[in-house]
Amino acid sequence: MVDSWVNSAEILGSDLHLELTRAGSRRTALMAALREAIRDGRLAPDTRLPPYRSLAADLGIARNTVADAYAELVAEGWLTARQGSGTRVASRPAPPSPGRRAARRERGGRPPLPTGGRRGPRPAPRPVHSLLQGQPDAASFPRAAWLASARRALTAAPNEAFGPGDPRGRPELRRALADYLARARGVRTDPERIVVCSGFAHALRLLGETRLTRPRMAVESYGLAFHRSLLRSAGIRTVPLPLDADGALTDGLADLDGVRAALLTPAHQFPTGGPLHPGRRAAAVAWARESGGLVLEDDYDGELRYDRRPVGAVQGLDPDRVVYLGSVSKSLSPALRLGWMVLPDHLVDRLLAVKGEREGWTGVLDQLTLADFIESGGYDRHVRRMRQHYRRRRDQLVAALAEHAPHIRVSGIAAGLHAVLELPPGTERSALRAAAWQGLALDGLGGYRHPEATTPRLDGLVVGYATPPEHSFAEALDALCRALPPETDGRPTP
Ligand SMILES: Cc1ncc(COP(=O)(O)O)c(C=O)c1O
Repeated sequence: MVDSWVNSAEILGSDLHLELTRAGSRRTALMAALREAIRDGRLAPDTRLPPYRSLAADLGIARNTVADAYAELVAEGWLTARQGSGTRVASRPAPPSPGRRAARRERGGRPPLPTGGRRGPRPAPRPVHSLLQGQPDAASFPRAAWLASARRALTAAPNEAFGPGDPRGRPELRRALADYLARARGVRTDPERIVVCSGFAHALRLLGETRLTRPRMAVESYGLAFHRSLLRSAGIRTVPLPLDADGALTDGLADLDGVRAALLTPAHQFPTGGPLHPGRRAAAVAWARESGGLVLEDDYDGELRYDRRPVGAVQGLDPDRVVYLGSVSKSLSPALRLGWMVLPDHLVDRLLAVKGEREGWTGVLDQLTLADFIESGGYDRHVRRMRQHYRRRRDQLVAALAEHAPHIRVSGIAAGLHAVLELPPGTERSALRAAAWQGLALDGLGGYRHPEATTPRLDGLVVGYATPPEHSFAEALDALCRALPPETDGRPTP
């Protein structure tokens, strides 16, 4: 064991006793000693560490060794590196309260950990913040306006509305949707070609069962694993389409054997975030026309666009070859389980044959309420209000990154409820570990990648900014910035 007093008192404010074991590399030994000092509380949160040069001189080791150890500990979340404020001990989220620990023990969970004498880093604390993508802000659900619509809709509903129901869904809702989608999203349809369903996932299941989408379906190289597995359970093999900053490379569709349908997110590629290039939209439609195939257009958050006018639906290019799919899951709430398909004429009966003779999925009261909500202007007002709210959130995220992590590029911010932070190659896993250690729940891009994708692997974080409560959003952003890897040369700023 080599004992060393670090005498950089002008930086640390006090001397630091570090014990470096003789065994192993100097970098590993220094990292272990720093972790131990942080765990013991000898290095309190926010303490500024000495510059590489002084610590290296104090310990008699190379400057690069210190730099590497700091960089690794930043990636693990023990330290933070910010321009202008040096490398500091990360502040930890509050540990679970004794009451919660006791409850966890009673449930048979892991007992509380001893505070000292352990080897290796502590397991990550339970998340106290979440920047997981996927949901709109539940606190902003327009309860009063929805209630007013529900009351009006129920009062006006004809008696036959309480019968078994048309499998296409309530005519009031299909009429309201036809007008709204034409006006807001450039969709060409009439109410007869709209089928109401329980959200996008239900639509995908039904389309899978029509057999028009078999045996293989092209999907984007990055997308929701849940949707791919849903198709797999329907017996459909998904084939990944390469992706770049302009979206999916749809001109390659003709080369894919046995592919009869292509599932795309043209307005806002999920999750990488860009719109599909106009030339690629046209190429997708041309392929569908020539091959007799179908484009399935997932318009999951088309209304939530911030910096310019919404990108119109591809369906407007050819309503006979594009199935347009939408839902209220991002605009209102995923709990409503309400969505719609706008089908080519020739598909309506086939789809209804699969759906069943009666509406067995979506409650009539919610359908009538949504119809009133749209027709009374409540839906437009809500979407406009949420656009402002989410744009503010998005701007806060971008500002926090510009201040604390200017070396991290953020993309996909023109629309939707999430952004993508592009990370240096090979750093996604350590950034996720660091986030977990900061008590932050977060997704990496890796989880969205199709297992057979050939497109270059992207390291990145998918940051959902819609759900954290207002009072803790800034803290969640702080935790995020602390979890990010340092400058791309791999060295934190001393
Ligand atoms: C890519 C994508 N498509 C569609 C949806 C909507 O799914 P659903 O309507 O089944 O909730 C979501 C989530 O809201 C999504 O992330």
